[in-house]
Amino acid sequence: MKPTRRSWAEPFKIKVVEPVKMTTHEQRRRAIAEAGYNTFLLRSEDVYIDLLTDSGTSAMSDRQWAGMMIGDEAYAGSRNFYHLEEVVKAYYGYRYLIPTHQGRGAEHIISRVLIKPGDVIPGNMYFTTTRLHQELAGGRFVDVIIPEAHDPASLHPFKGNVDLDRLESVIREHGPQKIPYVSLAATVNMAGGQPISLENLRKVREITARHGIRIILDATRLAENAYFIQQREPGQQERPIAEIAREICSLTDGCTMSAKKDALANIGGFLAVNDPEIYDEARNLVVVFEGLHTYGGMAGRDMEAVARGIEEAFQDDHIRARVGQVLYLGEKLREWGIPIVMPIGGHGVFLDAKAFLPHLPQEVYPAQALAAAIYEDSGVRAMERGIVSAGRNRETGEENKPKLELVRLTIPRRVYTQAHMDVVAESVLAVYEERERVRGLRMVYEPRYLRFFQARFEQL
Ligand code: F0G
Repeated sequence: MKPTRRSWAEPFKIKVVEPVKMTTHEQRRRAIAEAGYNTFLLRSEDVYIDLLTDSGTSAMSDRQWAGMMIGDEAYAGSRNFYHLEEVVKAYYGYRYLIPTHQGRGAEHIISRVLIKPGDVIPGNMYFTTTRLHQELAGGRFVDVIIPEAHDPASLHPFKGNVDLDRLESVIREHGPQKIPYVSLAATVNMAGGQPISLENLRKVREITARHGIRIILDATRLAENAYFIQQREPGQQERPIAEIAREICSLTDGCTMSAKKDALANIGGFLAVNDPEIYDEARNLVVVFEGLHTYGGMAGRDMEAVARGIEEAFQDDHIRARVGQVLYLGEKLREWGIPIVMPIGGHGVFLDAKAFLPHLPQEVYPAQALAAAIYEDSGVRAMERGIVSAGRNRETGEENKPKLELVRLTIPRRVYTQAHMDVVAESVLAVYEERERVRGLRMVYEPRYLRFFQARFEQL
């Protein structure tokens, strides 16, 4: 039969390959038990298709690798810093750049600069490291995302949006003096890679401007958010994603950035701001915690890779293929009736573990158990994004119980082929067909901070 539509493919071809190891079911059963049923504790050698994260796992281009060779490893004033600064100004538009070793370095610094003990930071859903740095600085995160974001089945096109009434009431309740900034992510990782709309952001800007409150953007996956705006928001179809991204930044006062995602680099990050006083204080702190203000914990070659990566990240063809691959996997799972977060997000497909494993209550960590089961089935490594990731309430010590109990199949950029996606989908289907056999878990080791990274479990 003739195809009814024209296919498209990735705008690159493959020049270098990295062989992966195949394992047996028995080897994987042992490996995941030894890892305490935590996919973070597996050796990557034992993983066949690694969908743990899209962070630092991208394939760099030949242009980025060439840039690595012209790394200027001077302690101070590396030419790669100046290139990065130029690129950040061009694509994000902020006046001042403070390089950091990765995203959480920037989160640490901005939290220390802006947050006083007792402050409240409203945001469109928490992110693990972002919230922890806000708390360590003495602040308290308050979720002001729209309620649809907590419902995996809601088809709202912009589930990253802020609930404007809720934001207003948080400001009324605490007073603007207690709110150093609104913390906005584009896209929202924990909601399933969901975007915020330009319209909503403009309104958040109006409200915050009225009260003299700043907006700090988490720009980690800004290019993907801009792509969804181009695809879904009325009147945005003709604009290049780079232009949409610039407009998003222009509606905020600064950003933290993990260059390990959008920017196609294996390590790196930055803080960027417009206010010279905040810049001055951040530049003082960066030398304490990260490195001199012209490298911030990155090698010169890393800064070059990030600068070149940003230039590639905002190309429409790239981002269409990147998000397109995620949609390919998600649509396949959905056709087979597997419960996933809808709409499909920008950086991964999120399995709804509550619906997938209805026999397991949240207390026995269904998403953690499901990620382990998928690994055991096929060697595909995913990540828990549910009650384990949500950690404990810092005041009461009780477990936070998020509405979303998810397993994230995160797609690295430019790394895997469509055939890999087929293997992943078939493995998820195989586990789904035998889902009653997946057993719950008991936590036997719990770290104090960001417990999901290192916690250990036993099967019940
Ligand atoms: N903000 C968001 C939205 C992130 O997804 C991450 C990291 C960070 C900040 C922190 O950046 O890792 O460079 O320090 N997310 C990774 C993930 C770890 O797998 O989602 P970092």
